[in-house]
Amino acid sequence: MQSPPVTKYVPFPPVTLPDRQWPNRTLTHTPVWCSVDLRDGNQALAQPMSVEEKLEFFDLLVKIGFKEIEIGFPSASQIEFDFCRRLIEGNRIPADVTIQILCQCREDLITRSLEALRGAKNVIFHLYNSTSPKQREYVFNASKAEIVRIATHAVGFLKREMVPLVTAGTRLRLEYSPESFTSTELPFALEICEAVTDRWSPTATDQIILNLPATVEYGTPNVHADQIEWMCRHLTRRAVTIVSLHTHHDRGTGVAATELALLAGADRVEGTLFGNGERTGNVDLVTVALNLYTHGIHPGLDFSDINHIREVYERCTRLEVPPRSPYAGELVFTAFSGSHQDAIKKSWAAQKPGAPWDVIYIPIDPADIGRSYKAIIRINSQSGKGGVAYVLENEFGYSLPKLMHKEIGRLINDLADAKGTELTPDEVHDLFRREYLDRTAPVTLTRFKTVERDSAVKCEAALTMDGATHALAADGNGPIDAFVRALGATNLPKFDVLSYSEHSLGTGAEARAVSYIQIKLAGGRTLYGAGTDTNIELASIKAVVSALNRALAKK
Ligand code: KIV
Ligand code: ZN
Repeated sequence: MQSPPVTKYVPFPPVTLPDRQWPNRTLTHTPVWCSVDLRDGNQALAQPMSVEEKLEFFDLLVKIGFKEIEIGFPSASQIEFDFCRRLIEGNRIPADVTIQILCQCREDLITRSLEALRGAKNVIFHLYNSTSPKQREYVFNASKAEIVRIATHAVGFLKREMVPLVTAGTRLRLEYSPESFTSTELPFALEICEAVTDRWSPTATDQIILNLPATVEYGTPNVHADQIEWMCRHLTRRAVTIVSLHTHHDRGTGVAATELALLAGADRVEGTLFGNGERTGNVDLVTVALNLYTHGIHPGLDFSDINHIREVYERCTRLEVPPRSPYAGELVFTAFSGSHQDAIKKSWAAQKPGAPWDVIYIPIDPADIGRSYKAIIRINSQSGKGGVAYVLENEFGYSLPKLMHKEIGRLINDLADAKGTELTPDEVHDLFRREYLDRTAPVTLTRFKTVERDSAVKCEAALTMDGATHALAADGNGPIDAFVRALGATNLPKFDVLSYSEHSLGTGAEARAVSYIQIKLAGGRTLYGAGTDTNIELASIKAVVSALNRALAKK
């Protein structure tokens, strides 16, 4: 990098618009969406999609609810031409979906594109030419007037040549893009848009789409919004113009630029699923749409099975959705930190059915986009006790007493530390079983029976320890009390029972009970034991043995 002062780069020029309106507005409605996955997205792939993959992707876009889909650049290659024909001849385009094709402002390419479109019902013919000073100077070596002429000539040619298509029943609308709009002087961008509009003569029923691309994102989102508001205010036929956005993401602010430009008055948004596209990509429509949704505006697009959408996208594009990508990323409904897990758990429990969504750290209900709450809590050495308790309860049905959370949380953290990676729910469950439920040594309970007597209970039990069998018996005010008293007559460590709880695991004939016992040893140390059995009384006795065995192991 250059040492300060940085002279290699200059600030992006702001727009003089002191009475800008967009900062005081809020988003209230959804824009018209246009997917450019099959054109801008596809052209940016190291290995572009095959025709079969494009067909599958097209069907996916239709299923999501896109009504305008840029399907390619049919005059650019035979594959693109053939794909367009496959869609039309195969009757794959629903009546309410408009296909959009891209074309440079050249007569031969316009003619070829019109051939590709034969038989289509609804078409947006997208013409573009570059308008920025650098493109005019370095690439085209053309004056402003020549650049305007390229565009207006193409529009005139299209108007003439499209007559047979339109007569045969195609509804054809025009989209014009001054490519590199955001790097073009605003007065010139306006001049060329006005000239194209003049040439097309839009009406209320045949509105022109003026697409104003941030072909490369150089400015900040507020400047982009100023540029769009400036255009919206200066276009003389605004009422018959659909102002469209087409943001790229070079500075990482494609979504912000799009959202602010919608505030600035734009009507339509072009972009791709998950932000595929040249360089850093086009704007990610999944994010823009679901951002609207989480503000209470239905985007008119259906992302309720986002995992499937992501799967098709990843297979067809051979790209991966990054794990932290909004809404769709693998880890976005995952909280590793204990305090986050705790807050999620508590606020989730407080969430009332039908009430506005208010779960801390989770801005959208994962279920709305087909993702599950199960994936949310994962365990690593940073996870707190709440996360472990959550996994045991939600994945395996154990509702541990509150005071036990800390004890098991510590054990799980030690295991995660030793392993050095995250623990799966099964690993958490295994540790719980090993540490509590399967603690049958050094003391093994081989028999337990109670005999009820008036107000007291007599128990008879047998234990094995160090290869020897011990028969025990005692009276108590309940089975646990009787068993603890019986143990008191042995030379095993002395303890008191501090707390006891139980619940069933599962339902019906197969149901088992699980008991949790907290004991306090003579030295004051407390610890838990747990046991399961189809017999609830036996589950509690096993929990006592589990606690005792844990105490002996720790000794
Ligand atoms: O980014 C861009 O400017 C484009 C145009 C062709 C609209 O993709
Ligand atoms: Zn683009």
